[in-house]
Order: sequence, then C-alpha cells, then structure tokens
Amino acid sequence: MSSTPLQNRLFLDALEGKKTERPPVWMMRQAGRYLPEYMELRKKYTFFERVKTPELACEITLQPIDIVGTDAAILFSDILVILECLSTEVELKPGFGPYIPDPIRTAEQAMNVKVRPATDELKYVYDAISTTRKALNGRVPIIGFAGGPWTNFCYLVEGQGSKTFSTAKSFLFSETKAAQHVLKVLTEQTIEYLHQQVAAGAQALQVFESWAAALGPDDFKKYALPCLLDIANEDYGVPLIMFCKDAEWSYPLFKESNVNGFGIGWGCTPEQARFHADGKTVQGNFDPSKLLSTPEQIEKEVIEMLDRFGPQNHIANLGHGILPNVPVENAKAFVNTIKNYRY
Ligand code: CP3
Repeated sequence: MSSTPLQNRLFLDALEGKKTERPPVWMMRQAGRYLPEYMELRKKYTFFERVKTPELACEITLQPIDIVGTDAAILFSDILVILECLSTEVELKPGFGPYIPDPIRTAEQAMNVKVRPATDELKYVYDAISTTRKALNGRVPIIGFAGGPWTNFCYLVEGQGSKTFSTAKSFLFSETKAAQHVLKVLTEQTIEYLHQQVAAGAQALQVFESWAAALGPDDFKKYALPCLLDIANEDYGVPLIMFCKDAEWSYPLFKESNVNGFGIGWGCTPEQARFHADGKTVQGNFDPSKLLSTPEQIEKEVIEMLDRFGPQNHIANLGHGILPNVPVENAKAFVNTIKNYRY
C-alpha cells in the first residue's frame, strides 16, 4: 500500500477528536449526477460498468476533489454491491433506481441464501480503492463504506426503492427468524468487506443505515442495532463513522463501541446532535435542498450551521446525499464557505 504522507489531515484529525483550525468538508454522494463530467461518463458506461472498472471508479471518485475541492474522497461505488455476496443480482435502472429481479420473499429463500465471501466477490471494490489511493497521492484521505445490514435487507426483500419498505418490514415481522438469519449473514459479510477495504487502502469508513427510521425505536433496537453494534465493535485500524439517518437518538447506544463519529441528518439540530454524540465527532447536517438557493444564501446559512455546531469535533457535510439538480457553483459555495471559516 502507498505510504505517501497525507497533505490534508483535517478530516482524519476531526474524526480522531484532534484540534483543527476549521471543520473539514465533504458531501455525501459528492461523486455523481450534479457534475457534468460524471454525466459524460454516464453516457458511455452503465452504472455497474462504472462501479466495477477500477479506473472509471477512480476517475469518478477524483472528480469532486478536482472540481469542488472537498477535504476527503469517498469511493465511487454503491452500498448494494454487497448483495452479490448473497448471490443476488442488482440492477440500476436509469430513472427508476436500484432493481433486484429476484428479491427474497419467503422464509425458505432466506434460510437458504447462498453466501459467497466478500473477499472474493468484491475484488473490484478493493482494486478501485487501491487505484484511487495511489492516484490521490496523499492529497486527501479516501473513505470506504458499506450499507447498514437493515438498509441492505430493505432492498434485498423489497426489490427496489420504496417510501415505506413495507414489504421488507412485513417480512421482518412475520418471518422474523428467517429475516434475522439474512441480517446476520449481511452483518458478517459487511465486517469482512470493511476490513478488506482498509487492507486495500481506505483511510476511514462510513456505515450508511439510511433506512434506520423505517423501523420504530423499539424495533430498530431489536433488529437493526445488534448488527450495527457487531460492525462497530470491530477494530478496523481506521476511524469509523456511523450514520443512522433520522435515528440520531440511537447514538448513545454506540458509546462503548469503536465508532469515532456520527452522521447527522437535517432532522436533528446541531445542539441535539451534540447531545446524542456525547463528545464524539459529529458530521452533517446541511439540508441538501438549500444548495438549490443562491451562493450568497448558502454562505449565510452554512456559517450559521458552523457557528451552531461550535468549534472542534465537527465534519461539515450535507444531512443526506447531494441532489442531482444542484448547480456546481452552489456546491462550490458550500465547500468554499467552510474552507474559509476559522474557529
Ligand atoms: O457518496 C458518494 O459520492 C459515493 C458513492 C455512493 C453512491 N451511492 C453512488 C451512487 C454512495 C456512498 C452510495 C450509497 C447508497 N446507495 C445509499 C446510502 C446513502 C443514501 O443515499 O442513503 C443507498 C440507499 C444507495 C442505493 C442507491 N444507489 C439508490 C437509492 C440509488 C438511486 C438513487 C440515486 O440517487 O440515483 C443509487 C444509485 C447511485 N449510487 C447513483 C450514484 C452516483 C446514481 C447513479 C446514476 O444515476 O448515475
């Protein structure tokens, strides 16, 4: 692995609780559809061609670093690739989103799920990480990631995106043992996957439990949290960010784990975020829709957000993924306001 020293340690310092002169900044889904350079590649290659070709994944990962200037890179990939370890095919239909032609719908399917080791199955991800780490040449750190087992389970059973994930939820509630078997397999695969990403060169990790709030707090604690704690109790040798979207109330339950930072959605105020994180680093939480206003308005609102989070242990980010119709100038205004800010 490349041992080029990092020229920009802000992100890792903030995550490790060290003092920084300003908050570091990156944006969830920073590689993607708001960038014309990405849209050019999108015309030539399918989504999974882009994800599974390390040189393309590397090029797309670097785009926001070169164009917008964030303090960290996140690998261009997708949380759903892990479903391949459960022998499940995933498609991405343009204008529709993720589509799983053969979702798990019966207890028998769930109990007999065919497991392939993440180490063998997802080699293209590790190659993309090592290629990108080399290409970054120490400019900024590279973040690896995985979906939370519950979120991946939602897609695996529902077969596509959903506002409610009611098919996945009713499967969980009616075929609980079978569902828990799948969640356990996903958890084990995710742990192996994250370790392999670090071995390939990832310098930090983030777990996206995007559908945390589809479950009420009691069911979240019963079904999703044990998987996340298994993941968070591992020592990966690099810092870990946990993002349970709209379930920030759960963060005190990670107190004894190896989590270094918590993702914060815009449904939570900076003050509430600080309370739930209890001294650990917080990451967020600008409403991505606000990037559709003007650069002047963005600057004003970003400064207000930074002031409210207060100094140290804060990574500036959006509360969820950037929207495809955000003007690049506005994304730059977001990033530059943070880069010009001083504690
Ligand atoms: O953040 C980054 O820039 C890194 C890459 C990344 C993608 N997806 C690329 C992508 C990451 C970290 C993800 C995570 C992901 N994928 C999540 C968790 C985070 C979240 O947003 O809640 C989820 C739930 C998915 C599943 C997924 N993949 C959906 C629902 C969609 C369709 C919706 C959409 O935004 O287009 C995807 C496709 C996807 N993943 C795209 C990108 C850039 C769009 C691809 C395209 O249309 O070209």
